[in-house]
Formats: sequence, structure tokens, C-alpha cells
Amino acid sequence: MSPEAKVLEALLREPRLFPPPEHFSQKANTQETELFKIKDPEAFWGQCASLIHWFKPWERILEWDYPQARWFTGGTLNVSYNCLDRHLGSFRRNKAALIWEGEPGDSCVLTYRDLYREVNKFASVLRSLGIKRGDRVTIYLPMIPELPIAMLACARIGAIHNVVFAGFSAHALQERINDIGSRLLITADGGFRRGQVIPLKDNADLALQNAPTVERVIVTKRTGHHINMQLGRDLWWHEIMHTASLYIEPEPMEAEDPLFILHTSGTTGKPKGVVHTTGGYLVGVTMTAKYVFDLKEEDVYWCTADIGWITGHSYVVYGPLSNGATVLIYEGAPDYPQPNRFWEIIEKYGVNIFYTAPTAIRSFMRWGPSYPARHDLSSLRLLGTVGEPINPEAWMWYYIHIGRRRCPIVDTWWQTETGMILISPLPGETPLKPGSATRPLPGIEADVVDEKGNPVPPGKGGYLVIKKPWPAMMRTIYGDHRRYVEQYWSRIPGCYFTGDGARKDADGYFWILGRVDDVINVSGHRIGTMEVESALVDHQAVAEAAVISRSHPIKGQAIVAFVTLKEGFTPSPELAQELKEHVVKIIGAIARPEQILFTPELPKTRSGKIMRRLLRDIAEGRALGDTSTLADPSSLERLRQAYAEEA
Ligand code: WTA
Repeated sequence: MSPEAKVLEALLREPRLFPPPEHFSQKANTQETELFKIKDPEAFWGQCASLIHWFKPWERILEWDYPQARWFTGGTLNVSYNCLDRHLGSFRRNKAALIWEGEPGDSCVLTYRDLYREVNKFASVLRSLGIKRGDRVTIYLPMIPELPIAMLACARIGAIHNVVFAGFSAHALQERINDIGSRLLITADGGFRRGQVIPLKDNADLALQNAPTVERVIVTKRTGHHINMQLGRDLWWHEIMHTASLYIEPEPMEAEDPLFILHTSGTTGKPKGVVHTTGGYLVGVTMTAKYVFDLKEEDVYWCTADIGWITGHSYVVYGPLSNGATVLIYEGAPDYPQPNRFWEIIEKYGVNIFYTAPTAIRSFMRWGPSYPARHDLSSLRLLGTVGEPINPEAWMWYYIHIGRRRCPIVDTWWQTETGMILISPLPGETPLKPGSATRPLPGIEADVVDEKGNPVPPGKGGYLVIKKPWPAMMRTIYGDHRRYVEQYWSRIPGCYFTGDGARKDADGYFWILGRVDDVINVSGHRIGTMEVESALVDHQAVAEAAVISRSHPIKGQAIVAFVTLKEGFTPSPELAQELKEHVVKIIGAIARPEQILFTPELPKTRSGKIMRRLLRDIAEGRALGDTSTLADPSSLERLRQAYAEEA
């Protein structure tokens, strides 16, 4: 065993309780407020609402008509005003709002005053194109400053933005545009990823072949490669910004007006357009950014998530900017040009707070500690993780090699639907246990229950539920309110159903066990098994497909697809490759199956349901569970043998 492995092992045997370091606790934001003494959730949130600026004060904290919550009704506000205008009256005016670094190494800094100007100008552009309050605007951009500028400009005029992750395919973009009827698409010629150009405008052109609601396309120049501009439809960002006004009055929005729609994967083939509102959302992300990340005026804060996901919406853009923080944005991959890129950036900008995903940490582990060891990381004072359960080994590695045993780690549990972090340590208060998101935040009532909603005893697994509404919760699925009620509020009586399994320990700490539905988590990205199945059966050769996940050392989970072919098609490695590419074409690279397994038939119950549980057993190499309900048990044995041979 290497000396390093020995240290790690010794640490892993420790009681594994890491109390907050004193130097941290003494100065923690939580120390400077009476907020956390308020025990009544509603009163607590009422107090949190004063962290933001209201044009007109709200009248009621919460109207709760199960399962519909309305927060801070009667109040009006504007999110872009809160993220920009309100900081201009102080020294923050000239403070860096965004520090941006492109993958090729170019960079820029936008002060709050700069960002304010660009957002106002872009808001004026949107207005001049006839975009108004309530209109939907799709944003398909790489991680460049234009992305938060476009979001904030939408927020300024009350348009509802729908950011589509730049890694999604043309087909996925089209599906999202059509789901919400966008009038405008904002994109770029392309983006950089590992030195390659992602052809965003080409994808957009394809998507728009069948997206009739889109009237105009605004294109920002990032890569400079040749693209087609369609006369009368497409406009260059830099050209229309020339004539834009420098100030646009921020639209006073009702607290319950939608701010954005963000699609996420669910248990059907169709992604859900999660709707978030203005007042409650901003209160939730402002409070959590301030206290979970302990944001200080002089900090450089870096959340590595892409803005195309909820983590980027809440903790790259809205939460930090509402707090007047300095946010670092990096465009590209962590291993480009070398696996030390993140550490180089931390050293270069003196990053203080670093928030990333367990899958990234496991990649860093694989690349080895020599990469971070080359860099001065002494500016770091707080680390965070999100997106999937973190295994204690990865937690310890992060703690030792990145935090250098000095920095608390906040393991934050939340979802696209929750809008804000719900379960997490408060870094100056909560003793940490590697692998546990610790406890629900103040104002949040979470529990682990059985199907009937009864709490299960400590140590036993059950469903993670939330028992009371919280301000940043989603309000509906766009265009499908019934699905919202059914999926989230009808499964467990009286509770919000998260789709996650969990257990609590004797100290009341929560240990998240992962999804209990047909959603899988690959590298921290949520993917619906049904989405991948629909993509596969879309291919002419495929008769039937069953998609499951198996555990993967870096990605957390990997996609395995069992496929039966139509008459006239024969299994081959080439066909497997073609099917993988087909999934990439329909959804995007994040959904590429790790493995395709051809089989003459899928194990089904007598009533015709595919038994995914048994497929998972096969993929994990486990003993098969109960097979008594199978229509044809011998088919399963053949499948298991085929799988073993393949492996
Ligand atoms: C998982 C990302 C364990 C969980 C913000 C959840 C986590 C899903 C954690 C939501 C965590 C997120 N520990 N699991 N700290 N954070 N998850 O919508 O399964 O992309 O339901 O939101 O990620 O993924 P989503």
C-alpha cells in the first residue's frame, strides 16, 4: 500500500466527524445574524425575504393550498434589479461581477456596472424585437458572458427564459422550443470544448426546421467559424447591440410570475419544463448562496456547473449575483489542455469558494494528486459538492488534496425542482460526516418515510420527502399541471416526493441513496431511461429497448441498453456503435450508452412489463432476484450468459 493510501485509510477509519474549524466558525455569516434562531419556517422565510429588494412589499408570506404554494403574494420585484441595480449605489459598482476565462485562455472581467450596462442594452434589443413580459425566449449558448447577460435581460423585461444546455442536440433543442412555444432563440456560432468547436448555430438551424414559433435568432460570435445566417431571421448580437439603449426600466414583476422554465428528465420519454417563479425563487437562492457558501464581499466564488443546468441558474447566476458576489466562469473542460486546468484557474484568480460535482472529483482522483499539488491553493476556504451522492473516499480526497484539511465541505442536496439547496451543512455550524449531506436547512422539513408516508426508523432506507413548502419550489410543469400534481404530490400522502431514496442515522443526518425511479444519474446529469429508450427505438433497426444503469467508478452510473432488433438486422459491433451515435444525435453526448447489448428477447412479466430490476442484476453481475413472475425464465439465463461473455 502506498504511503498516501495508508493515510487515506487511517482517515477513513476515524470517527469521521469533522467539526467546523474554529477560524471558519468565528467569521461565518451565520454567526452574524439572528435569522437562524427563528424556528417557525414561515416566519423564517418571511425574514429571509428582506435579503432582497421589493418594489412593493409582499402582503402574505405563504398561501398554501395543497399542493399549490404561493409565496410573498402582493409583492413586486425584479430579479435583474436585485442582481444589478441595487449594487450600484455602493462600492460594488466597480467590483468584479463576472471573471470569465475561455477555454483557449482568453479572459475578461465585467464589473457590476459593466454587467448592468450590457444587460440593459440587451434588454433593449429584446424589447425592440417585440419581446414582452411573459414571452418565452430560448437560450442555447456556451459558458460565455452573453449567457448570464441574456438571462438577466429576459428577467429585466419579464420574459421567461429557457436555457438549453449547449451539449444538447438539435433534436433536443427543438423539442424544448416546441414544448414552450419560444418566440426568440439566442445562440452562438459555436462553443469550445476540449479544443473542438461545438457547432451550435448549425444545430440551431436544424432545430428550427420544425420550430414554427421562433421568429428571430440572435447569434453571438464566439468561435468565428463560418455559419449560415438566414436573412430576415438571424441577427448578429454585436450588430444589434450598437443601437441599443443604455437603460431599460426593470419590469415590476409579481412575486408569483414565472422567471424561467428549465427542462429536466423524468420517468417518461418527454422532459419536463420545470417552472420557477420570481419572488420565492430569488429569496431561496439568495439566502442559501449567502449562508451555505458563506459568501463574503471579497471572495472569488467558483461553481463549475454549466449554466444550462439548475446548479448554474441558482449558484452561478442568481444566488451569487443577488448577493453582489464575484463569480468566476470558466468555459471549458477540466482537463484541457492539461488535467491541472482547474487548479491553475484557482491559483490564477485566487478562488476562495469552489463548488463542483463528485464525478469531477473522481476524475481528479484518477488523474492523481500531483496536478493539484503543483498549485498554490491556499486561497480556498470552502468547498462544495452537488449532483449525486459523494462516496466517502472521494470526500476525503477532496478534503485532503484540494482543501488541504483546512476547508469545510458542503455536500448540498437539491434538485431542478427544488430550485435551491434544501439539505446541506451550514459550514460554520454543522459537524461534517463524509458522504452525508447532513441535515435539512433551517426552514426546511425533510424526512425519510415509507410508501404510506410514515417515518422509518434511523438506519432504515426509505423515500426522501419534503413535508412543507419552501419558497424556491417549482410551481408547475409547463403545460402539464396534472403531471406536476401526480408526480410530486400524489405518491406519498401529504408530501413532496423527491424520487430519491435515503436513510437517516441516529444523529438525524441524511444519507442520500440515489434515485428510486427511472431516472439515472450519469456524471451528475439526470437522464430518463425512457428518453434513451425512445431514442433507441427511433432507429430503424431497433424493435425494443430497455435501458438501465450500472455503477461506474467515475460517472457514478453508466447507461446500459438491452436491445432487440427487427427482422433483417443482425447484431454487430458496428451496429452497436451506430446506435450509440443515434442516441447522441437525438439527445446529446451526455446520454451516450456505455454499452449496448443485443438480445433476442427482453425479460418480461406475463403481463408484458419489462423487468428492469433483473436487467440491473445482470449488469451489476449480481445474483438474480426473484424471477418467479417472468414469462420465460430461460430467456433470462441466456441473457446473463451473453452478458458475461461480453464482459
Ligand atoms: C441527485 C441537481 C446526493 C439526487 C442540483 C437528486 C444528490 C438529483 C445530491 C437532482 C447530493 C443532487 N447528494 N444526491 N448532494 N445533489 N443529487 O435535478 O438524486 O440535476 O434527485 O439537480 O441529483 O438532479 P438535478
